[in-house]
Amino acid sequence: LQTLPPLQLAEKYFQIFPEEMDPLWQNPCHDKRHKDIWSKEKTCDRLPKFLVVGPQKTGTTALHLLLTLHPAIISSFPSPVTFEEVQFFNGPNYHNGIDWYMDFFPFPSNVSTDFMFEKSANYFDTELVPKRAAALVPRAKIIAVLINPVDRAYSWYQHQRAHQDPAAINYTFHQVVTGGPSSSKELLVLQSRCLKPGEYAAHLERWLVHFQSRQLYVVDGSLLRSNPALVMEGIQRFLGVTAHCTCRFDESKGFWCQRMEGGRPKCLGKSKGRKYLEMAPETRAFLMEYYREHNLELLRLLNRLGQTLPLWLREELQSSS
Ligand code: A3P
Repeated sequence: LQTLPPLQLAEKYFQIFPEEMDPLWQNPCHDKRHKDIWSKEKTCDRLPKFLVVGPQKTGTTALHLLLTLHPAIISSFPSPVTFEEVQFFNGPNYHNGIDWYMDFFPFPSNVSTDFMFEKSANYFDTELVPKRAAALVPRAKIIAVLINPVDRAYSWYQHQRAHQDPAAINYTFHQVVTGGPSSSKELLVLQSRCLKPGEYAAHLERWLVHFQSRQLYVVDGSLLRSNPALVMEGIQRFLGVTAHCTCRFDESKGFWCQRMEGGRPKCLGKSKGRKYLEMAPETRAFLMEYYREHNLELLRLLNRLGQTLPLWLREELQSSS
């Protein structure tokens, strides 16, 4: 029997099976053949029980913080590169493999009672993510935070400006959202990134192809902002953990903050809860129309799933009908 050196062997293999070049990582412990060749030093327990998937600018950082205040809930470690989200399922990090991903999680002290999770806000609307997540953590629960997509788009635009995105600096919000097909490429790219994540129903449907409806929970992000304790109750019920919330409203921040020992508040940083001018009424009207059909789809979807309708969705549909 003759064999090629590993690299050439791999090249040969992928010439024969090109469709396998893009990996789809599965939990090694879910298949006996994989488990048998999985190192004895390793465990399959360093994986999340739930994912907070976004989308961006809906209050995902606040939710992340509130979750970590619960004694049974353990977050992934921050990325040593960005000090922020792991961003595994959605981009080049996926090719680093599952050992790389598992290194973001501690060894749980009690597998049945510890709830490890990860929050990456770009997961929600990235095409490949639900399929990849379902392959690795098929039993995970999925939490999406939704606010009025009109406000989400505006917040996202302000975020891009704060990060000196040249297109967001060059164009007003109104230009970004109303730009027609003959607009510059940079404007159209920004427009798509600004508006598409807010087409909530289409993204949720993709998650539902790979996860059962009882695994999915939609959080009203506006309520999370105004009454986090109430929202946390619902999330804790969904996860099956005891109720726990230590937060209080901070007048100067204008948001709910963590209540520290001694009563001092610890709020999120300056980049969360930014101060910016109100959206121009004509831009809001344009976006309300843009999102009308998508919001109706969301209404039908949430009714089908038997989930509570966010207040903002009721209000938005009432005012645009
Ligand atoms: P703005 O800065 O536009 O007001 P994300 O964490 O997903 O990026 O979302 C950021 C948004 O979370 C903020 O957008 C803010 O409105 C909202 N938010 C909700 N609860 C908050 C809190 N307790 N502190 C700060 N921001 C909060």
